[in-house]
Parts: sequence; structure tokens; C-alpha cells
Amino acid sequence: MKYSEYNPSKIEEINHLFIKTFSDSEGESEGLVIGELTNNFMTSTDVNDFCCFVATNNNEIIGGVFFSRLTFESGVKAYILSPMAILTEYQGKGIGQKLISFGLNALKKNGVELAVTYGDPNFYSKVGFSVISEEIVKAPLKLSYPEGWLGQSLVSDRIDPITDKSYCVEALNKPDLW
Ligand SMILES: CC(C)(COP(=O)(O)OP(=O)(O)OC[C@H]1O[C@@H](n2cnc3c(N)ncnc32)[C@H](O)[C@@H]1OP(=O)(O)O)[C@@H](O)C(=O)NCCC(=O)NCCS
Repeated sequence: MKYSEYNPSKIEEINHLFIKTFSDSEGESEGLVIGELTNNFMTSTDVNDFCCFVATNNNEIIGGVFFSRLTFESGVKAYILSPMAILTEYQGKGIGQKLISFGLNALKKNGVELAVTYGDPNFYSKVGFSVISEEIVKAPLKLSYPEGWLGQSLVSDRIDPITDKSYCVEALNKPDLW
């Protein structure tokens, strides 16, 4: 398995991976919503505001994870992990955790201080995320599932509370995604 930053020539393949994986796990309409999100990242988001890492097996992209910028007035350098997908037949083999660690390491090397995500604490706690309250880090939109608001510092062993509001990129700025 190879882990790397995505190549823009693979946009179609990556969109397909997300549509397929989320259609399998949550139904076709959710697959299309997530496919639109990944397409918006790769085709209409400033390249400085998102990154995507992929897992490749024998030239086939079998997993992907997106991180996009979360902006704070205080200037803390932060990214949000969302979405991620590992093709159904490759799930449960540790690939998702390795792909996230690969991505977090790349962000760390680029001076990112904080990573947050919004999902299942049981899974994301395996790669260093903990449940956080909005007193620690404010979400950019209203959370329908506050128990899934998670974060980790990439520079110390705890997150210093950030009091200012956060802003996400346009692709994520849709209440239904939260
Ligand atoms: C969630 C997902 C990315 C995990 O990737 P993965 O490669 O299957 O996960 P790993 O093999 O690295 O880790 C497996 C561990 O996570 C847990 N896990 C796997 N999928 C999970 C899920 N959907 N929800 C919660 N926990 C999950 C397993 O219990 C397992 O723990 P264990 O090893 O102690 O049994 C992948 O299953 C997936 O793409 N699912 C469908 C899409 C999705 O839900 N994406 C995440 C939301 S954006």
C-alpha cells in the first residue's frame, strides 16, 4: 500500500471512490452528496486551502482523506479532516488509520497546529482525536451531533482553548453537512 498526496489528474477516480464507498455504507443519495463535496474541493477550492491524501494499491486508489482550512481571527493554523473513505472491501485492515497518520504528519511538517474532525469518536480516537467542546474550539456551523466534534493539537499534548469564531471553506459551508 502506498500513501501519497493526490495527483490532480486523478480527480475522477477519487470522486468515484467517495461516491462508491458512501453509497455502500449510507445509501446512494449520501454517496452523491459526498461526491459533490469532494468534487468541490478539487475543482473550486483554493489549492492553499485544502489537501487530499490517497492510499494506492497496485495503481488503484482505494482510500482518500481530505483536510481543509479552518480559519480563526487569531491566526491559529488549523485544518478539518472531512470526508474520508476506504473502499468497502479494504475496510477494517488498518488502512484508514495509516492514511490519517500520513496526512497529519504532512500537515505537521507544514506548520499546522490544530486538526479537528466531525465523526465517530470510536474510530477517530484511534488516531489521536478526542471529543472537544465548543468552548475549546468553535465549529463554523451549527453541529447536529456535538458528540462528534473532535480535535487534536499537532504541536503539544493539549489544545489551548480558542475563543474566536471559526470559518470553513465554501465547499463545507452547507448546514446539511453538519
Ligand atoms: C470509517 C473508515 C474511513 C475507516 O477506515 P478503515 O480502514 O476501515 O479503518 P481501520 O481499519 O484503520 O480501523 C478500523 C477500526 O476502526 C473501527 N471502525 C472502522 N470503521 C468504522 C466506522 N464506520 N465507524 C466506527 N468505527 C469504525 C473498527 O472498529 C476498527 O477498530 P478495531 O481495529 O479496534 O476493531 C472506513 O471504514 C470507511 O470508509 N467507511 C465508510 C465511509 C465513512 O464512514 N467515512 C468516515 C466518515 S467521513
